[in-house]
Amino acid sequence: MSTPLHLAPFAPAAFIARRTHLMDSMRALGGGVAIIPTAPEVVRNRDAHYDFRPDSYFYYLTGFSEPEAVLVLIATEHMQRSILFCREKNTEREIWDGYRYGPEAAQKTFALDEALPFDALKQHLPTLLAHQTQIFSPLLDNATWDATLCEALNSARSATRSGASAPRVVHDVYALLDEQRLFKDAQELEWMRAAGRISAQGHVRAMQTCRSGQRETDLEAEILYSFAKEGAQHVAYSSIVAAGANACVLHYRAGSSLLNEGDLCLIDAGAEYGLYAGDITRTFPVNGRFSPAQRAVYEIVLAAQEAAIAATRAGASFNAPHEAATRILTEGMLNLGLLDANRIGSIDDAIHSGAYRQFYMHRTSHWIGLDVHDCGAYSSGQDDAQQPIWRTLQEGMVLTIEPGLYIRPSADVPEQFWNIGIRIEDDAIVTTNGCELTTRDAPVAIADIESLMRH
Ligand code: GLY
Ligand code: MN
Ligand code: MN
Repeated sequence: MSTPLHLAPFAPAAFIARRTHLMDSMRALGGGVAIIPTAPEVVRNRDAHYDFRPDSYFYYLTGFSEPEAVLVLIATEHMQRSILFCREKNTEREIWDGYRYGPEAAQKTFALDEALPFDALKQHLPTLLAHQTQIFSPLLDNATWDATLCEALNSARSATRSGASAPRVVHDVYALLDEQRLFKDAQELEWMRAAGRISAQGHVRAMQTCRSGQRETDLEAEILYSFAKEGAQHVAYSSIVAAGANACVLHYRAGSSLLNEGDLCLIDAGAEYGLYAGDITRTFPVNGRFSPAQRAVYEIVLAAQEAAIAATRAGASFNAPHEAATRILTEGMLNLGLLDANRIGSIDDAIHSGAYRQFYMHRTSHWIGLDVHDCGAYSSGQDDAQQPIWRTLQEGMVLTIEPGLYIRPSADVPEQFWNIGIRIEDDAIVTTNGCELTTRDAPVAIADIESLMRH
């Protein structure tokens, strides 16, 4: 086991730069006030809560991870100001729940212009809105937040009788932040590389500890143990550990199925580090040796992933990796007899008709960052033929590359391939000439997997 990664002491520079970037975008639209809340705490049952996780947009701008917090940014031609509303110090609650910054320490640590008690938010909001022309806030995303905003705006409107003015225009601040977050800065890339390394270690441990007769949850436990020991704060999403036929259920979770001799095991699991996600899938034989049929399908998926990786670089279309993977997968389906060439026709015919979707029914990539399925537009609308106008990949974008084949039993499919489900998924930072894979500490080549599992 390598030395665990621990988050470096908090450094506010990257967060200040992100706030400045957002305020510049607000000014370009005429300026105004941004109001951005963190996530609500959510009850799991009775008085037990789900683990609190800050809202990704809020955290991206502040680095602040306590619940009950709101960021206000004022950006006009003449003024720029950041204000955090956060919980006050509270000795009684800190004895039970742990440290709270309180406004005074939060203002200094997180390098904000001002910090105020969260309980005073509703009282301050109308004043903060008065004399602004525009609001930038989450809109139609959360009804409780919409109601808070509506109440504050109505209060500001009623003050107009005393000579104040109230904002007339409301923008969805997430639209600005979605685009900003799509391009990862140096701090984000550092944490994403760490998330990739930790996630990969979990997969290595799963391959090393896998034994036939265990259950899927045994492997999930090994992965979670490794993530925690290597420095992850959480999983990035619920882990899929799918033995045999379960791999053909795309959103299967780790369950109680046995890992049987002769079956494959598909694991899709990722760690979260500094709130950034890793997202890796590996598929390996439970007994450490691929059968000829498993090997044949695996080699096709791996070749498809290699083609997709080769198509991932700045200047390429977001859809280029998907097209490259789909072509290799479809060719493989025809070669293996999964698709009948006499009935389906050529590779191009099978792609055009969508026949390949019987065995490859998901897309190859999604953005990844603070959210495992990260924000950011994939296209800028549709062309005249109603096809998406895919955006162009640019340096600093991060995406997954995750082709797969899922072969359910069917009379028209050779039986030796039934119930084989294989996906290989890595995370890629787009660079000028290609991409950097952050998750390759977990092997993908058959020889490397078999060798790892022998030791
Ligand atoms: N683990 C979620 C995904 O691969 O998209
Ligand atoms: Mn993924
Ligand atoms: Mn995944």
